[in-house]
Amino acid sequence: MDYLLPVLWLSLFVQETLQLRIVRVSVPAYRLRGQTASLECDYELGGSILYSVKWYRDNEEFYRYLPKYDPPKHAYKLDGIKVDLGRSDSRRVVLQQVTLRSSGAYRCEVSAEAPSFASAAGEGRMEVIYLPREGPSITGNEEENRRGDYLFLNCTSGRSYPATELSWDIDGEKVTNPELLVPYGATAHAHGLVSVALGLLVPRGRSMQVRCTARVAPAWREGSEAVVGHGLLAHSKEAMLLVRSAGERTLHSGIMVILTLLIRTVFKEF
Ligand SMILES: *[C@@H]1O[C@H](CO)[C@@H](O)[C@H](O)[C@H]1NC(C)=O
Repeated sequence: MDYLLPVLWLSLFVQETLQLRIVRVSVPAYRLRGQTASLECDYELGGSILYSVKWYRDNEEFYRYLPKYDPPKHAYKLDGIKVDLGRSDSRRVVLQQVTLRSSGAYRCEVSAEAPSFASAAGEGRMEVIYLPREGPSITGNEEENRRGDYLFLNCTSGRSYPATELSWDIDGEKVTNPELLVPYGATAHAHGLVSVALGLLVPRGRSMQVRCTARVAPAWREGSEAVVGHGLLAHSKEAMLLVRSAGERTLHSGIMVILTLLIRTVFKEF
C-alpha cells in the first residue's frame, strides 16, 4: 500500500495546480470624485478555458467579458458606473469619472467552460472622496459677543465627503479644552456632501492669532494598496484671523475689534 501514497499525492497536487483560481483582485481603496478607477482581476485558468469574467458592485453586475461572444465586452448601466469599454478587457475594467455613488464592494468572478465549470471570485472596496472647494470660514456672532468674558467665533467647513475635521488653534497652540469648543452636528447637502461647524470661545482682553484648520482624512485602511493619487494622505485648508478683543474696560461698549482679517487658505496635499 505504501507505494501508492506518493502517486496519490502527486495526482492531487496536479489537480490543485490546474484549478482555475483568482490570483489577485485589486481595487483602489480611494479615488477622488471625477478621477478614473482601474480595477484589476488577475487569475490563472489552470487547464480550463475561460467562459466569462464578470464584475459586480454590491452584487449588481456592471461588466462582463465573454470571449466567445461578439463583441466580447458588455457594460450594464448602474448608478455611478461609467465603464470605459475601450480600456477594459478580460483582466481589467476601467471606470470613468467616479462619483460618490461609485463607492462600494467590487467583485470579480471568473468562470470556466465545460467540463469543469469551475469558478472563482475575489473582491475589494472602493471609497470615493470629495474634497472641499471652499476653505473653512470664520464668523463672529455679534449677539454672543456683546457680553461675557469670551468672544465667540464660529468656523464652518466647506462641503465634503467624508465629513471634514475642524480644529482651532490660538497663537499656534491647538485648543483641546472642551469648555472652549462648541461642536455642531453635520449638515447634509445635495449629493451626499456634508459640512460641519465648530465654535470657539476666545478669552477677551488680548490680541491673538486664531486659526481654524479643516482636514479631510478618511479612515485610511491599513495595508490598502492603491491610495488616491500618489499617496494623498490628508488634505487640509485653513482660515486665520488676528483678533484684538476689547478688554474689560471697554466691555460696556460691546465691540469686538477684529484688527486684521487675514483669511488664508493653505493646501497641504502630500
Ligand atoms: C455656528 O455655525 C453653525 C453652522 O453654520 C450654525 O449652525 C450655528 O448656529 C452657529 N453658531 C452660532 C452661535 O452662531
